[in-house]
Amino acid sequence: MLFPDFRGRRLRASKNFRRMIRETKLSCDDFILPLFAIEGTSIKKPIDSMPGHFQLSCDHIVKKAKEAWDAGVPAIILFGIPDKKDPLATRAYAPDSIVQKTIQEVKEKVPDITIITDVCLCGYMDHGHCGIVENGIIDNDASLDLLAKTALSHARAGADMVAPSDMMDGRVGEIRQTLDEENFSHIPVMSYAVKYSSAFYGPFRQAAESTPQFGDRKTYQMDPANANEAIREAIMDVEEGADIIMVKPALSYLDIIYQLKEEIDLPIAAYNVSGEYSIMKAGEMMGWVNANELIMETLLSIKRAGADLILTYSAIDAARELNK
Ligand code: PBG
Repeated sequence: MLFPDFRGRRLRASKNFRRMIRETKLSCDDFILPLFAIEGTSIKKPIDSMPGHFQLSCDHIVKKAKEAWDAGVPAIILFGIPDKKDPLATRAYAPDSIVQKTIQEVKEKVPDITIITDVCLCGYMDHGHCGIVENGIIDNDASLDLLAKTALSHARAGADMVAPSDMMDGRVGEIRQTLDEENFSHIPVMSYAVKYSSAFYGPFRQAAESTPQFGDRKTYQMDPANANEAIREAIMDVEEGADIIMVKPALSYLDIIYQLKEEIDLPIAAYNVSGEYSIMKAGEMMGWVNANELIMETLLSIKRAGADLILTYSAIDAARELNK
C-alpha cells in the first residue's frame, strides 16, 4: 500500500493509538541493578565517574536493595571491593569477605530480592587481571579453580545466581560442576559469555578499583570487530551449562544481541555498562541532553534488539518511570 492509501501518521495521531500499537514494552521485571559493596559501616562514597552511584557499606547496600525492591526491580548484582588484594585473589572466595557478608545481610533484611553475584578475580588480584598471572601471562586453566571456588563461596553465603565475568575459557563448565558436586545444582549461572574488550568499562574500573596494573584485557575479552566469534562463545557456554547468556556492553553491540536472540534458545541479558551510563549523565550535567529520556530510549532499544534482561545502573529510576 502506498500513499495516499497508506498514511503512517494515522496510528500515531493519539496517545492511545500509540499505546495500542507499541511493539516493545519495557518492564521493571527486565532490570538488574549493579551495586558496589565496600567494607565498613555508614560508608557511601560517591563514584566520581558515575554520578548517582556509590561504593556502599553493607548497611547502605541493604537500603538500596530495599529501594530497588520497592520500585519493582527483582534483582541486584553485587561487586565487591575487598579490604586487601593479593596474587591469588584470596578475598574473592574467603567466607568472611565483602560479597559473602553482604549477601547474608541482604538475604536477612530484604529476603525477597534476588541476589546475583559477579564472579571475577580482577578486583581481588594485586595486578588487577581476571586470572592468575604467571610470568606476565594470564594462566587460563590455573584460574578456573579459583573462579569455581569464588562461585561456590557466593552460593554458600546465599547467592541466588552467579555470573562469571572473567572470560577464561571453560569457566562455566568448571563452575557448574563444582556447584553440582556441592549440592548447589539449583543455582543458575548467568554467563558473561560475550564480553568485549571495551573502553566503556572505564568508569566501572574506578568504581570497583579493578584497573589492570599492566597491559590490558585483550587476551581474554573479545575484539569489538567480531560477531561470528560471539556466536561461538555463546554456544560454548550453553554447552557448558549456562542458564542465561549475557552480551556486554549493550549499546554498541545491539547487532550482537539481535543475532544471539535468533541463535540461542536461552534468555539473553545485556549489560548497559558504566561508560554508557556515565556519558549520558555527563551530557545532562552539561545541559545538552535529557538523561532520563535518553535512558528510557536506550533501555527500550536494548529490549527491542532482543534482550530479555538488562543490567543497568538506571534500574531504580527506570522502574519508577515505568510505574508512573
Ligand atoms: C570484571 C567486570 C567488569 C565489568 C563487569 N565485571 C570490568 C572489566 O572487565 O574490566 C564492567 C561493568 C561496567 O563497565 O559497568 N571483570
